[in-house]
Amino acid sequence: MLRIKNLDAGYGKLRVLKNISLHVDPGEIVTIIGANGAGKTTLLHTIVGLVNSAAGEIQFQQKCCSGLTSQQVVASGCALVPEGRQVFASMSVEENLLLGGYVLQRNAGRAAVLRELEYQYDLFPVLRERREQLAGTLSGGEQQMLAMGRALMSKPKLVMMDEPSTGLAPLIVRDIFSIIKKLREEGNTVLLIEQNAKAALGIADRGYVMEVGKIILQGPAEGLLINRDVQRAYLGREKID
Ligand SMILES: Nc1ncnc2c1ncn2[C@@H]1O[C@H](COP(=O)(O)OP(=O)(O)OP(=O)(O)O)[C@@H](O)[C@H]1O
Ligand SMILES: [Mg+2]
Repeated sequence: MLRIKNLDAGYGKLRVLKNISLHVDPGEIVTIIGANGAGKTTLLHTIVGLVNSAAGEIQFQQKCCSGLTSQQVVASGCALVPEGRQVFASMSVEENLLLGGYVLQRNAGRAAVLRELEYQYDLFPVLRERREQLAGTLSGGEQQMLAMGRALMSKPKLVMMDEPSTGLAPLIVRDIFSIIKKLREEGNTVLLIEQNAKAALGIADRGYVMEVGKIILQGPAEGLLINRDVQRAYLGREKID
């Protein structure tokens, strides 16, 4: 589905991503965990064409993404739920969702968009209840659900989420993660960026650990959960029995 090989990228002379290689297969939840500033958002922005790569290769569905605009990447089936939600605050919940359906409308028509809207309302019932409400007045958890629903409206083949749990209470984080699990059960493919390593590795199939622009560890999620270095650095366990 997504294959990245020896990717370097950054801003001007600043090289943030150093020789990143990773892949996501269809039907998987893959997580990338890492501390603030590790380069996680830069990686997602490079995949969607917001940051230019300096070297290496990004392939989505066996096609090279280099040089595509972010609109073209989204149109090819790769959607991003951005860090900090970034919902359109002065528009209603439904207007936000319909904006996410723009590509679908162009390819499959209005009826397909309305079907997808109902599907998102089934997945996130709170959004149906609040369909007329201005997005800026939703709670943090509701805004996260809206940002996810808006990305899913394009019926993406791959959905990439940038720290969906940030700033949310534990109960809401649990809801968000159970929805991500449900997405996989329904055949979706998810690349999940998280600082909440425990929750992310708890639902993922595989994981990568990123530190200062490099992948330093990778493997099945259950293996990373019991890895001593991961536990020490990301799971807050200083002493291990
Ligand atoms: N637009 C930019 N111009 C210059 N440097 C940037 C820009 N955006 C990010 N950086 C730098 O790139 C590095 C990686 O930032 P990035 O936002 O990718 O990290 P992150 O892993 O997503 O962190 P966080 O968990 O805090 O979101 C940081 O040192 C940051 O200062
Ligand atoms: Mg980030």
